Amino acid sequence: KPILFVTSELADFVKVGGLGDVSAALPRALLRYYDMRVLMPAYREVVESLWPIEIVAHLPGLAEIPACDLGRVYLPEGLIVYVLVCPELFERPGSPYLDEHGREWPDNHIRFARLSLAAAQMTSLEGDDVFSDNGWHPELLHLNDWQTGLTPAYLRWEGDETPCVYTIHNLAYQGVYGVDRLASLGIPEHAFTEEGLSFYNQLSFMKAGIVYSDHITTVSETYAREITTPEFGCGLEGLLSSCAEQGRLSGITNGIDDSWDPKTDAYLACAFATNDWAGKRVNTEHVRRMFRLAVSHGPLFAVVSRLVHQKGLDMTIAAAESIVRAGGQLVVIGCGEPAIEEALRNLEARFPGAIGVYIGFSEREARCIFAGSDFLLMPSRFEPCGLSQMYAQRFGSLPVAHRTGGLADTIEDGVTGFLFNELHQSDFQHAIDRAFRVYGCTELFYAMRRAAMAIYYQWRLSVTPYRRLYHQLMDLESAGNA
Ligand code: ADP
Ligand code: GLC
Repeated sequence: KPILFVTSELADFVKVGGLGDVSAALPRALLRYYDMRVLMPAYREVVESLWPIEIVAHLPGLAEIPACDLGRVYLPEGLIVYVLVCPELFERPGSPYLDEHGREWPDNHIRFARLSLAAAQMTSLEGDDVFSDNGWHPELLHLNDWQTGLTPAYLRWEGDETPCVYTIHNLAYQGVYGVDRLASLGIPEHAFTEEGLSFYNQLSFMKAGIVYSDHITTVSETYAREITTPEFGCGLEGLLSSCAEQGRLSGITNGIDDSWDPKTDAYLACAFATNDWAGKRVNTEHVRRMFRLAVSHGPLFAVVSRLVHQKGLDMTIAAAESIVRAGGQLVVIGCGEPAIEEALRNLEARFPGAIGVYIGFSEREARCIFAGSDFLLMPSRFEPCGLSQMYAQRFGSLPVAHRTGGLADTIEDGVTGFLFNELHQSDFQHAIDRAFRVYGCTELFYAMRRAAMAIYYQWRLSVTPYRRLYHQLMDLESAGNA
């Protein structure tokens, strides 16, 4: 069955966070069962990559959304990716969402309406120009986050009922714009209602995705429940609660791909396996040298994260001094909000030799840190799933995390990591103290490491619930047509 997976990030080319990893791994894991292909914008990183782009179609514009070409790229493991070639929208420096100064691109509504519309145009059976790539035409759409939220809306307004699965990776980013943008995106006025895509009298891409898709998933079971409450629902809790009541909302926990294996990871200073703690120590020493830290027998704490409010870095910063005083060290890699970046730089300056900070991101260094650290700090305010704690566990680094979202579902307190219940500094501190104590009891510490490294998070586990869902939707569709 032909399925189109629509995303704004793909780790093969560009990733801002976990969505890029999921988009690279999940469609590949599903290739055994479906002719699944990916659609994404042809960012500069795509155009400048080694992979040739072959143009396969031309997609017309709508209102102020420009026309563009559709290219096809073949990636390793047989993954076919369609890319939207539209230099004026996508070939820019900066990230998929922000310019070089960290500001939202002012035309993000046009850019991601272009992505959403393309998916709808590739699917729609209306008109003379029905898309087909050597007979391949999507029969189900799997959409991801607000950047794809208008897709089911464009389809339904045309009367097309192709089944749509919409996965929320992070409800906090919604794509909300003023009503003055409606016309530029070709949105019919009749759709701008409370039942449609009006969100407090503004246009919401996220709400469109939820309202018009057949089924909503999010990336852990706990987060699926949390987003139906005012605390985590970002104003959409009412709508999401009714989706849950109708059986239209479910949580499917992400997996991690096979490349996350300390036995084979070529980026590491030394490959290692469970119980080869000398091998792991080589990685720890390597990380200490990378960050110019002093030689130490204390525990090495790490942060590998986007530096944004969600991740609770203020709590980590507040705990740093106590970690150092207790004989620990801390390394941080990531980038994001300038104020957090600066606070971290100050911390490094205050504790040279004990705290190391790298503002930026490199996959190699991130992997070295997962492998070299003893503990990973994740006091996230909310966490839809979180991949970093799974990577860390795989590499024998025990997460110290807030019991929320996917962290609650993937960390077993006192067994594969440490969880604290309330977002209070004292609770976080208490969890860090527990980590220090366990570090001091070598047998217990190694037992926890073994337990963490043994957890099976492969995508294969998540593939089954997605398959069940696809089948349900495609069967309904054929039943409806019968
Ligand atoms: P989120 O998606 O909220 O950032 P996850 O834990 O799901 O959190 O995913 C984090 C992934 O993104 C990991 O692969 C991590 O190595 C990577 N990552 C973390 N910070 C950055 C960054 N600044 N730039 C690119 N990738 C990052
Ligand atoms: C989002 C979430 C993160 C999740 C990732 C992939 O960025 O913040 O928790 O793991 O998407 O689904």
